[in-house]
Amino acid sequence: MDHQIGIIYSSVDGQTKKICEKLQKLLQQNGIQAELFSIDNFSEEITDFQSIIIGASIRYGKHNPKIERFVLENKEALGQIESAFFSVNLVARKEDKNRADTNPYLIKFLESTNWKPDKVDVFAGKLDYSLYPFFDRWMVKLIMKFTKGPTSTPKAIEYTDWERVRQFAEKFYTP
Ligand SMILES: Cc1cc2nc3c(=O)[nH]c(=O)nc-3n(C[C@H](O)[C@H](O)[C@H](O)COP(=O)(O)O)c2cc1C
Repeated sequence: MDHQIGIIYSSVDGQTKKICEKLQKLLQQNGIQAELFSIDNFSEEITDFQSIIIGASIRYGKHNPKIERFVLENKEALGQIESAFFSVNLVARKEDKNRADTNPYLIKFLESTNWKPDKVDVFAGKLDYSLYPFFDRWMVKLIMKFTKGPTSTPKAIEYTDWERVRQFAEKFYTP
């Protein structure tokens, strides 16, 4: 095993990438070598890593299909090393939907892939209406309306709980 931790992300507006960069920094500060890859340019050998962490955001109820495909195609290799998965979405801003066993997207993903990563988590994402093109903005407003969230905000709201991210990172450097 040449590599310690590989972090693979799928991120559209950058929040999942930001979380992965934070994880990388925390791991490195604790003496662990961590490399970051976008799902679009990961071409390494999975079993060359001690651990693989995959992070993906939700859009319209789904993670990037590339992530699902990657997991399905590499389940055996992922099973040979330590593996972790986390989902980033806005529903997770809610207290009753922000845990691995209460977030519907995470539960569904683990069921549909039948993958059992060693560590799983979910983090709330970021809401930034100013970034979304018209249709997406309208749809996200609808999603927020249904989940009793803000449908207009003067500026972006970052719901990510960085302490939760730190606790997740900690799992990799405390025995
Ligand atoms: C077009 C669009 C659709 C989204 N759909 C959902 C959704 O169905 N459920 C949800 O909880 N969050 C949804 N979100 C919120 C994103 O998951 C959240 O903004 C996250 O931080 C995005 O992460 P990323 O920047 O890494 O892509 C959506 C966001 C956008 C822009």
